[in-house]
Amino acid sequence: MKIAIYPGSFDPVTLGHLDIIERAAKMVDKLIIGVLNNNTKNPLFSADDRVNMLKEVTSHLDNVEVEAFSGLLIDFVKRKNADVVIRGLRAITDFEYELQMAQTNRTMEPTFDTIFLITSLQYAYLSSSTVKEVAKFGGDLNKFLPQQVIPKVKDKYNIK
Ligand code: PNS
Repeated sequence: MKIAIYPGSFDPVTLGHLDIIERAAKMVDKLIIGVLNNNTKNPLFSADDRVNMLKEVTSHLDNVEVEAFSGLLIDFVKRKNADVVIRGLRAITDFEYELQMAQTNRTMEPTFDTIFLITSLQYAYLSSSTVKEVAKFGGDLNKFLPQQVIPKVKDKYNIK
């Protein structure tokens, strides 16, 4: 049984994340979405809210689970007996950060492997941070966020 972990902040989950989740779920027996619960990042949504949103938008995927984790990713991977970690790569600008993380993780745990999925073109420049910026100023979120997530983000910014 192949188990993969797709870790991230998901603050909030975007259509770009969902695209990676749907594609990764087809490649493995079980995909665990690991939601980083890290207070230093000062997220818009609590870890519980982010977990619940992810559960809602992945309810059509039978082999996907969602869980919050804190501490090191390599420890979460070990606890879950996962074989591999999945990350999305949008543009070349992601590469250096991703390489640094993957190499650091492999240095700490030599059996650790990351598989990178290239983001679909329509989501290549999408990030939770830019979406929050659009939301803050009342922009249209339909092309960026799953429908279930839009009212929750609007609520945070008191937008009707
Ligand atoms: O969505 P993000 O914020 O780009 O995800 C980053 C994440 C959660 C994958 C990364 O910050 C992480 O793995 N954090 C856990 C702490 C850790 O293991 N750090 C060592 C690797 S640099």
